Amino acid sequence: MFVELSSVDKAKYVAAKRAVEFVEDGMKLGLGTGSTAAWMVRCLAERVQREGLRIQGVPTSTRTADLARELGLEVITLDEAGRLDITIDGTDEFDANLSLIKGGGGALLQEKIVASASDRMIVIAGFDKRVVHLGQFPLPIEVLGFGLKSSQGQISELIAAQDVTGCDITMRMAGGSPFMTDQGNYILDLHLGKIGDPKKLAVALNQVPGVVENGLFVDICDLIVLGASDGTVEEQSKN
Ligand code: A5P
Repeated sequence: MFVELSSVDKAKYVAAKRAVEFVEDGMKLGLGTGSTAAWMVRCLAERVQREGLRIQGVPTSTRTADLARELGLEVITLDEAGRLDITIDGTDEFDANLSLIKGGGGALLQEKIVASASDRMIVIAGFDKRVVHLGQFPLPIEVLGFGLKSSQGQISELIAAQDVTGCDITMRMAGGSPFMTDQGNYILDLHLGKIGDPKKLAVALNQVPGVVENGLFVDICDLIVLGASDGTVEEQSKN
């Protein structure tokens, strides 16, 4: 399979393959969302088929649930699972503290709930996701449709007072209409340039009425598995 892949997919594949080596028989897993996480679901299904592993997965989106079921993985809800052993997911950016920006695929709410319910979160990514300061990638915020303009105004005032270098906010769109999350909410993308204090910003954003969740994952990720297109893999833990 490896030789036929593009260099980008090779990097995602090797990271995913390494990460699923942490999975043991009987585990309950959080299954992330996105193109890298999709490789993880495939690698997991391969192990289940080959080794007869008995695992149960809690998907973080309908996309991931569909793929997992298609590949024969047992899918359960988070309430059925209770606590999870490991969540494996992708990211849009990460820094040296293993703080993340997630939600490029719009699944940040379920991703954060599932990761927070896990003993361990392993993130899989290519080296292009590593940054010195978070914020180049627009920060997704999931907001309620009710009072959206009011929430947006309050977010705008809030970020003007934060340690960031940009303040544009755009509504996430999909084919000419506002993008809608699995929970029926909307996504605002915050173009912040550089986020000086991710933890402070994450806490502040969730105080705005109408904000359901933000895409900053601080003190949640335990390990990053980085894949390169030459097939090598590097692991990065917290400094
Ligand atoms: C989904 O909402 C996101 O958090 C993804 O995990 C993130 O966008 C990474 O996606 P890729 O693996 O496709 O880059």
